[in-house]
Amino acid sequence: MNGRTAVIIGGGSGIGLAVAGRVVAAGGRVVIGGRTEARLRAAAGELGEAASWRVVDTADQASLAAFFEAVERVDHLFTPAASYTTGPMRELSDEAAASPFTSKFWGQYHAVRLALPKLGADASIVLMAGAASVRPPGPAPAYVACNAAIEGLGRGLAVELAPVRVNVVSPGTVDGNLWRQRPEEVRESAFAQYSRDALLGRAGRESEVADAVMFLFANTYMTGSTLYPDGGYALR
Ligand SMILES: NC(=O)c1ccc[n+]([C@@H]2O[C@H](COP(=O)([O-])OP(=O)(O)OC[C@H]3O[C@@H](n4cnc5c(N)ncnc54)[C@H](OP(=O)(O)O)[C@@H]3O)[C@@H](O)[C@H]2O)c1
Repeated sequence: MNGRTAVIIGGGSGIGLAVAGRVVAAGGRVVIGGRTEARLRAAAGELGEAASWRVVDTADQASLAAFFEAVERVDHLFTPAASYTTGPMRELSDEAAASPFTSKFWGQYHAVRLALPKLGADASIVLMAGAASVRPPGPAPAYVACNAAIEGLGRGLAVELAPVRVNVVSPGTVDGNLWRQRPEEVRESAFAQYSRDALLGRAGRESEVADAVMFLFANTYMTGSTLYPDGGYALR
């Protein structure tokens, strides 16, 4: 990562912050983005001098354009930023059902498009999906479809943007910041179910997903692939 800059939108917490920590530890620079200044400031303080931050909302294309305007170059791009509602078709409003697409799919699509002028030929991009794409954990059809669509987006962008490399990481349930915001009983029940479902008998760790992202950043022959750091969840 020496001399390389990784831009991580959603890098102020969770998996994005774990990736930022690895980039810095490997000698690279990071620019982290998110909607909350205090969170970004604290994360950048933790990461040290090789980190800078800027507020951005992936739901707002003008905000994304201003974000990339301020970035000198993008050697690696990772876009785990998203906020959405999941649930059954029978219960969600159309707006709530569309929210994974609005935020997670189109947010990443627009981020990549607006980053294009700053990408070098040897740049790489990692999109965030989720293993619900291949094994629905429960009734949440639009969320399941959104993750599958992001995996397809990765393949489509790999074709269009080559030699820039585009890959997707599609994790299972991760015991980390996102689930810590949810009520304890919801979290514990989800982890217990996931532990029964995954071959490795537990939820994942943010560090394990971050390792998969770093592999996709670094391996110069990986493009158009989806990695599933899911403890074998999809197989059982
Ligand atoms: N954790 C899991 O179990 C899991 C499993 C499979 C897939 N995933 C995917 O991984 C993504 C990241 O998960 P995580 O565990 O790292 O959660 P996290 O800690 O909540 O990270 C999400 C980050 O994105 C930022 N963000 C959210 N919406 C944004 C927006 N519109 N524009 C810019 N930044 C935004 C958040 O900061 P602000 O709120 O301050 O903007 C936050 O720092 C999730 O969205 C999910 O799709 C997670």
